[in-house]
Amino acid sequence: MLETPRILAFAGSLRAGSFNKQLVKIAMEGARDAGGEVTYLDLRDLPLPVFNEDDEAQHGLPENARKLKELFKSHHGFLLSSPEYNSSITGALKNAIDWASRSESEEEPSLVAYRGKVCALMSASPGALGGLRALVHVRAILGNIGVFVLPEQVSVPVAHEAFDDKGSLKDARKQQDIANLGRRLVEITRKLN
Ligand SMILES: Cc1cc2nc3c(=O)[nH]c(=O)nc-3n(C[C@H](O)[C@H](O)[C@H](O)COP(=O)(O)O)c2cc1C
Repeated sequence: MLETPRILAFAGSLRAGSFNKQLVKIAMEGARDAGGEVTYLDLRDLPLPVFNEDDEAQHGLPENARKLKELFKSHHGFLLSSPEYNSSITGALKNAIDWASRSESEEEPSLVAYRGKVCALMSASPGALGGLRALVHVRAILGNIGVFVLPEQVSVPVAHEAFDDKGSLKDARKQQDIANLGRRLVEITRKLN
């Protein structure tokens, strides 16, 4: 059994004041409490062009796509907080998933960044559903590329009123639920590796 699972935590938002970035940071605390080694990734730090197969054929993977793929490969599990745009995931998140899904040689096994990884999902939105509909989609996408997605997930509605000044959720029970999600990811990832 793996003693210290490496967990990559990120949100599918590029927005500086993102609620989903705040949310995933709460889950990170739970993951650390459970003994995980957690890396936080802000997708803004790895800007990527919109995926275009012609550009890929001509130039290969851009430097940042390679870095992203390496980050995915070098972690056992993902904590992902997904915003909801028009009832689905953001273009930025889908674009990142697509870039990191690409093989760079004939010898490279397909979907190395994803196969066998474990993921816990959460979402936050100012709306009443808390981004729940995006989670249905990202669960299907990740499942189809070989990621074990935990059945547990947590959504935070009315996100613009949900956090206090320190970035914690005002609702203590929700705060606990999110931290527990991080803990659970570490426990399951440990068992699966
Ligand atoms: C293009 C666009 C579409 C959106 N569609 C939805 C939606 O379908 N459901 C929803 O709950 N919120 C929707 N929102 C509002 C987002 O939930 C809100 O901007 C949220 O703060 C984004 O997450 P972030 O704070 O992590 O950046 C949309 C926002 C944008 C910009």
